[in-house]
Amino acid sequence: MPHGKSPRENTLIETLLPKDTNASGHIFGGVVMSLMDKAAAVASWRYSKQRVVTAGAEEITFVTPIHVGEVVRASATVIYTGRTSMDVEVIVEAENIFEESSRLAATGLFIMVAVDDQGKPTPIPQWQPDTEEEKKKHKEGLERRKIREQKKSR
Ligand SMILES: CC(C)(COP(=O)(O)OP(=O)(O)OC[C@H]1O[C@@H](n2cnc3c(N)ncnc32)[C@H](O)[C@@H]1OP(=O)(O)O)[C@@H](O)C(=O)NCCC(=O)NCCS
Repeated sequence: MPHGKSPRENTLIETLLPKDTNASGHIFGGVVMSLMDKAAAVASWRYSKQRVVTAGAEEITFVTPIHVGEVVRASATVIYTGRTSMDVEVIVEAENIFEESSRLAATGLFIMVAVDDQGKPTPIPQWQPDTEEEKKKHKEGLERRKIREQKKSR
């Protein structure tokens, strides 16, 4: 399997409606997670050129609430690859167009698995980190994998 191209950032932009809010008038966490999952799917499709499924999500953090009418931007990047799986980092920002302000709203890590027509995991190109930042994230990906494997074997 050849090496994968350097992962590109993939951004989905949405504005959310009153039906997406909780009793406090903020956007539901599940709605934000759905947008994050979609962004992770696009990033992993583009990287692997295969069908993908979400195997898991980790380290989801809601940093600040998102309000109706704000523009929500979910940016996803493949930061680690296994044999068939990809760790995809997702960063969500909320933009208030009228105030010309933007802030970090949520972050998370999605594990996407490339699958064949029968839904079985299928190999993907291996990502080679290039920059210092990418190397750091790759090393963290290796650590996460070790922790997952330890948990699984317990
Ligand atoms: C994800 C899925 C394809 C894995 O299939 P499997 O037969 O268990 O395959 P394996 O155990 O060989 O795992 C395949 C890869 O996924 C990874 N993986 C599987 N479950 C995982 C989890 N919960 N967290 C992190 N990684 C996981 C494995 O580490 C492995 O990675 P690698 O190939 O890079 O080493 C299967 O469990 C599945 O189809 N789940 C349902 C997915 C789904 O419906 N998602 C929601 C809608 S998209």
